[in-house]
Amino acid sequence: MINTQEWLEGLVEKARPFASEGRVAEYIPALKDQNPHDLAISIYTLDNNSCYAGDHLKKFTLQSISKVITLALVLMDYGEEHVFSKVGMEPTGDPFNSIAKLETHKPSKPLNPMINAGALAVTNMIKGNTGMEKWHRLIEFINHMTGETVSYNEDVAYSELQTANLNRSLCYFMKQHGVITGNVEDLLVLYTKQCAVEMNCVDLAKMGAVFANDGIDPESGRELITRDVARVCKTFMVTCGMYNTSGEFAIKVGIPAKSGVSGGIMGSVPGKCGIGIFGPALDDVGNSIAGLKLLEMLSDEHSWSIF
Ligand code: DON
Repeated sequence: MINTQEWLEGLVEKARPFASEGRVAEYIPALKDQNPHDLAISIYTLDNNSCYAGDHLKKFTLQSISKVITLALVLMDYGEEHVFSKVGMEPTGDPFNSIAKLETHKPSKPLNPMINAGALAVTNMIKGNTGMEKWHRLIEFINHMTGETVSYNEDVAYSELQTANLNRSLCYFMKQHGVITGNVEDLLVLYTKQCAVEMNCVDLAKMGAVFANDGIDPESGRELITRDVARVCKTFMVTCGMYNTSGEFAIKVGIPAKSGVSGGIMGSVPGKCGIGIFGPALDDVGNSIAGLKLLEMLSDEHSWSIF
């Protein structure tokens, strides 16, 4: 194993004080109750060793981390040509929930699948005749990746659904421009459930390991994601995974990673390991502030930057 438990515990205690510089997300009311001082990390190596430190059993919702998972699913269902006819491949310097570029960019499609507009367009493509069928496909895919039976946090999903008026407006705009089809409320129900999928950092590290292993589950040896799709997902993690600070993150850390407003970060060090982090105190753009510190220290120590 590359990291001993004590060594990881030491890193967590070094990073934890940075949490006091951040704030938990408040725009989804149910996330307000999270403890800003929680911090947890897990590393899952491709030879199937797992280690963890901090509050590793605490569950949290995936939020935007789920965007990578749905992207992998629809890319395998429809292929790049179809998916990228609806959503672009370019980073944006705007916040994750911005509507600005949808109107100014021609053709009027979301710039990438990691911003909310792009993720909503991707979720709209999940296969299934009913919302329930789509949900089951998604959660089964996640279960295969984690090797666990995971579910979603109903309170968080409901809380987001009640307050998701910005996402609602993005959907109506995209429906008008033919980017999405079908009933907007049904799409929001599915999207808020997807964002509310709940797990701990150990499960998250396992998912990161599947991407790090080019889509092959290191535990079962099964291909869960094709090599090409895993490559596309990791590329988006590098260019857009940490929102409008993805550039700075690439320089300071250099690990393909995706964050969420609940404070989760999934990292994938190609050929080496998956990383799962939970630290709900966020910086101004929505990334876990202590989580970023942890990743910086890890990357430095192990020379894990891919650049
Ligand atoms: O749609 C939203 O706003 C949330 N469900 C997810 C946003 C998110 O996690 C952005 N993360 N940094």
